[in-house]
Amino acid sequence: MTDSRFQSDEWKIIETRFEAERGRDSESIFALGNGMMGQRANFEETYSGDTLQGTYVAGIYYPDKTVVGWWKNGYPDYFAKVPNAPSWTGIKVRIDGEELDLAACKIKNFRRELDMKEGVLTRTFTAMMPSGRQVEVTAKRFISMSQPERAAISYSVRLTGGSGTAEIIPWLNADVYNEDANYDEKFWENESAEHDGARAVVVAQTRKTAFVVATAMENTFTVNGKPAKSKASITTAVNSAHCTFTSAYAEGDTIEVKKYVAVLSSFNHPAEGLAGKAMSMAGEAARKGFEAMLRDHTKAWEKKWEHGDIVIKGDIAAQQGIRFNIFQLNQTYTGEDPRLNIGPKGFTGEKYGGSTYWDTEAFAFPFYLSTADTHVARNLLLYRYKHLGKAIENAQKLGFTGGAALYPMVTMNGEECHNEWEITFEEIHRNGAIAYAIFNYIRHTGDQNYLAEYGLEVLIALSRFWAQRCNWSQEKNQYVILGVTGPNEYENNVNNNWYTNTLARWTLKYTSDSLEWLRSASEVKYNSVVARTRLDTQCELSLWKEIINNIYLPVHYDLGIFLQQDGFMDKMQQTVKDLDPAERPLNQHWSWDRILRSVFIKQADVLQGIYFFEEEFDEEAIRRNFDFYEPRCVHESSLSASIHSVLAARLHDTESAYTLYLRTARLDLDDYNREVKDGLHITSMAGTWLAIVEGFGGLRISNDRVCFNPVIPAAWSSYSFIIRYRNNPLRVEVNGSAVNVVNLSKAAIPLAAYGEKLTLQPGEKKKFKKS
Ligand code: BGC
Repeated sequence: MTDSRFQSDEWKIIETRFEAERGRDSESIFALGNGMMGQRANFEETYSGDTLQGTYVAGIYYPDKTVVGWWKNGYPDYFAKVPNAPSWTGIKVRIDGEELDLAACKIKNFRRELDMKEGVLTRTFTAMMPSGRQVEVTAKRFISMSQPERAAISYSVRLTGGSGTAEIIPWLNADVYNEDANYDEKFWENESAEHDGARAVVVAQTRKTAFVVATAMENTFTVNGKPAKSKASITTAVNSAHCTFTSAYAEGDTIEVKKYVAVLSSFNHPAEGLAGKAMSMAGEAARKGFEAMLRDHTKAWEKKWEHGDIVIKGDIAAQQGIRFNIFQLNQTYTGEDPRLNIGPKGFTGEKYGGSTYWDTEAFAFPFYLSTADTHVARNLLLYRYKHLGKAIENAQKLGFTGGAALYPMVTMNGEECHNEWEITFEEIHRNGAIAYAIFNYIRHTGDQNYLAEYGLEVLIALSRFWAQRCNWSQEKNQYVILGVTGPNEYENNVNNNWYTNTLARWTLKYTSDSLEWLRSASEVKYNSVVARTRLDTQCELSLWKEIINNIYLPVHYDLGIFLQQDGFMDKMQQTVKDLDPAERPLNQHWSWDRILRSVFIKQADVLQGIYFFEEEFDEEAIRRNFDFYEPRCVHESSLSASIHSVLAARLHDTESAYTLYLRTARLDLDDYNREVKDGLHITSMAGTWLAIVEGFGGLRISNDRVCFNPVIPAAWSSYSFIIRYRNNPLRVEVNGSAVNVVNLSKAAIPLAAYGEKLTLQPGEKKKFKKS
């Protein structure tokens, strides 16, 4: 159990106290999104307390000019940032001229509830205003999952303590800023606002990138449940629009506004006519009505949960944790557009700029691969395919030739945005994760054709990079890779990082094997790939073979482990147990110099490689490496614990797997890293899913067969999930020492559990018992 700020509930996140000092934390936790847009849970009414206002529109970015202390050739000019977009949640409340502002009120009965099943955020409270007036507010909002450019808010105010005049003023505002702007610049320009008497719209354009966003609203008002007799009046200024509804009120009256919003961007529509289109869309939403919109939205969520849910019995905190993670992943990325990707903070904050990291391929990819239709994972691969030209240019800037590609560490449109040399130029293992995702996709979906159409072009460019990034060492008589940073960013500029070298060798081999496969499957397609990539099938392939056979992989023979990098054993050997808890996290207490020299590992590194290529190692080798590296890992990246958890479960150490699992599952809900105020750790949430499905469930796809080897944490009585294999859903339920698998599809599925192999027919159910 946790001592969470939030009530235990299987489907809801519930906050029952208004804590101004944790306002930003809650704004992150209660964030809403639908893949096309998202927002932090900022209050509708005026709030003069501390807040991070955040409304984000997918695909829109601003190239914020780079800040560095010392410029290095090869640095990018800008860091792409997702701009805080025109805000549409605002509803001012004025009672007899006094404005409702929770920072100035005494608050009773505060309750905020995020219903993850339905994707709805509700807030209720009673506020005693400084004058003594009292209002009871119920605010409910959602961002439509069924109509992705629409959202709606219902906001009702019950007035007690006399009679007078109330004004309810829904508004839109395009005068918005980013807190993380490098030079305090505003990211928007050319703002305008207009209205047609019934609807209003604000329009703004990003500077430099010229993306246009039009945000429109139509509002309907009721008094005591009946349509209001008086009309609201709309006014606009340069970058804002207000719709003022004024009404006399008597004791106990309730005034309610329904605010219908449409957010359109030139990412998806022609910029011309965008304002008019947004206004008509807001109008259509108003005609449809709140309840009907909500029904469609809820149905869309129901569909997501139908195949994406994980049910845990016997442990509400764990249940709530995993659902929160799944909910946020689905709010961030829906997979309909190959131009979009998954920022480490999704739509919940400014940090990491909403850009794409290796997190997508290494952590988030398996979640979408197993829980959504095949096209979703395919779109994630196509995102990188579309950026191949830019990745080749990126490599050229660093001196590589002949179509070698280095994908960026951080990107929005394919261009590198990151600017710390030890990461930008050295954390090249990201190329490996991109190759691995192609392999993973084909292994799950059976879509071999992807190789001929797109995959091999990427793989060849990646292999060319590795072939040039290696050099022959006379000393070692082997190929080496020098000057890299592995996933463990607490070490920079190391030689022969085992993980990086292993990925390089694997990529070269996978590319060579895939080419060989295509040659035998279709000469025509093979020739087309060779022609498209101008592959020299003699020289290039023989060099790759030479590297595959002769690349140096550091090993410590006495300990029987892979060595994280050359010289790792020269470090003073300590374990996390030797650390003073008051000095954790190290990155907030130690100098960078001390961190670099220490043995402590930020996140899975050798173990990340063992996780990817587990089939290549026997259990004892996995155990020796786990036992060596886990005690040295401080897990100061949110991505780390999940991989360790999967391996601990693989080693049947269910208790450690569970401890590590809890660290990721409730990382944000319980704010372990004290940074939830900046936004949620969306990509690491996918790691939580991995920890259950691949960790406890033991899911592996091996030789065209779905294999399970489940274990169950002592705290759980059962757990179940659905995964898709070749797009065919399978339901898996684990309880005690048995696993029940049901084939929900129309195809026969080859299966193995606890070592027993069979083919499960459509609709068939099978119980496997642990022997
Ligand atoms: C991790 C990286 C990760 C990034 C974004 C860093 O702290 O070390 O591996 O890509 O966060 O999540």
